[in-house]
Amino acid sequence: MKHQGVQNQVVVLQKSPKLVLLAFSTLVLLTIFIPLCYPSISYSSIFLIQSISKPPPSFDDHHHHDDDEHHSLPSTSSSTHKCDIFTGEWVPNPKAPYYTNRSCWAIHEHQNCMKYGRPDSEFMKWRWKPDGCELPIFNPAQFLELVRDKSLAFVGDSVGRNQMQSLICLLSRVEYPIDVSYTPDEHFKRWKYKTYNFTMATFWTPHLVKSMESDPNGPTNTGVFSLYLDEYDVEWTSQIEEFDYIIISGGHWFYRPLVFYEKGQIIGCHYCLIENVTDLGMYYGYRRAFRTAFKAINSLKNFKGITYLRTFAPSHFENGLWNQGGNCVRTRPFRSSETHLDGQSLELYMTQIEEFKVAEREGKDNGLKFRLLDTTQAALLRPDGHPSRYGHWANENVTLYNDCVHWCLPGPIDTWNDFLLEMLKNERLRSAEEEKNMHPNDRKLLVR
Ligand SMILES: *[C@@H]1O[C@H](CO)[C@@H](O)[C@H](O)[C@H]1NC(C)=O
Ligand SMILES: *[C@@H]1O[C@H](CO)[C@@H](O)[C@H](O)[C@H]1NC(C)=O
Ligand SMILES: *[C@@H]1O[C@H](CO)[C@@H](O)[C@H](O)[C@H]1NC(C)=O
Ligand SMILES: *[C@@H]1O[C@H](CO)[C@@H](O)[C@H](O)[C@H]1NC(C)=O
Repeated sequence: MKHQGVQNQVVVLQKSPKLVLLAFSTLVLLTIFIPLCYPSISYSSIFLIQSISKPPPSFDDHHHHDDDEHHSLPSTSSSTHKCDIFTGEWVPNPKAPYYTNRSCWAIHEHQNCMKYGRPDSEFMKWRWKPDGCELPIFNPAQFLELVRDKSLAFVGDSVGRNQMQSLICLLSRVEYPIDVSYTPDEHFKRWKYKTYNFTMATFWTPHLVKSMESDPNGPTNTGVFSLYLDEYDVEWTSQIEEFDYIIISGGHWFYRPLVFYEKGQIIGCHYCLIENVTDLGMYYGYRRAFRTAFKAINSLKNFKGITYLRTFAPSHFENGLWNQGGNCVRTRPFRSSETHLDGQSLELYMTQIEEFKVAEREGKDNGLKFRLLDTTQAALLRPDGHPSRYGHWANENVTLYNDCVHWCLPGPIDTWNDFLLEMLKNERLRSAEEEKNMHPNDRKLLVR
């Protein structure tokens, strides 16, 4: 297949074209099959919760509980009390961007939209304005001071790598890192900021659990992956114990045909079309993959770090599916009143939030912190931020499809690092608050 040839030739670009191709192709299937099994109305949009006076009938007690918690979550991660930094609008920012493809070498080819002739540049000139407070623009010196002598790992797929490259570019006004990778495999990069003794790494794990491509073709010609839903992906779980911060994310790879294993046995699949194998749908695998990944983190003996779930970032295909001319050609952000999270994106988002909350509770018992880097709403409102066809030369037939999954650099993904810095700044405050809210008995123990 075409994209496999590309993989072999250009190691650095290895997963990106494939991810793009495959995430797109399964969207086609999902729009056909999923609505039948998963009526999306079973959840109210978490972003519309304020306007809903009572929960829809299908909410059970568990969901009530989660909703209440969600209300209280964001306020604790923001400097201004009662301000949810993740709910807001994009507002013009003529001062942006803060780096260019000339000043930063870390931009992945497929996200170097200006290089490939994107004609408009307005998409770089926005900042996120939370309702009720301000989100400061990224301050590289402040960030590096906060992470001095610390380490940060991005665990996930190419969208996670996209955020790391944004971070390298944002920090580049102060310092560039040196490559201290322990393997030539580009999926496992390690960078060191020498002046600050700060280490940053990426771990490639698109399914978060042990997985392998069991059939390069499959029913959609996009490969079938075997997911061992109860087995750790040791490529990252064996490496992260020493890290102070983990940013975990995932999503787009779950759209493809998947075969699910538990206890070494096939227990079902997602659109595999294998006789006698039950189709459990992608959310089944997504939920269990997060459950197992969080369990891995919670069971690490020496891990003392903070785990951030960077929530699902929806794609923005319009006027057709990925392979039917679907594209993302808008040049302005949406206002929050113009769109809302629904369908598969909402289901993926809710699934990971639910698993996050379970992990957060378990983490509390062994003193581990889980935080929500809730980029979903800010990402949802940026249909204009994707490479579209400007992730490559127009005449290149390698990635013919429009990329409405990844994000141009500079671009809206830079804001994810504004969020990250804000959360790091507020971490001490928040920890103190949690201590205060502890059960009196626990506090006594702590004081002793
Ligand atoms: C940066 O973008 C410009 C267009 O704005 C392009 O001409 C140039 O080749 C790009 N440079 C790099 C290093 O990507
Ligand atoms: C650099 O940071 C690590 C922790 O990430 C620490 O163990 C080490 O002592 C630091 N090195 C220096 C020279 O401060
Ligand atoms: C599927 O199940 C049926 C009934 O149990 C059995 O006869 C058939 O051989 C099975 N097919 C495969 C491919 O295992
Ligand atoms: C790209 O497309 C052109 C025309 O469609 C074709 O001649 C060429 O062989 C293709 N190149 C690759 C690398 O597939």
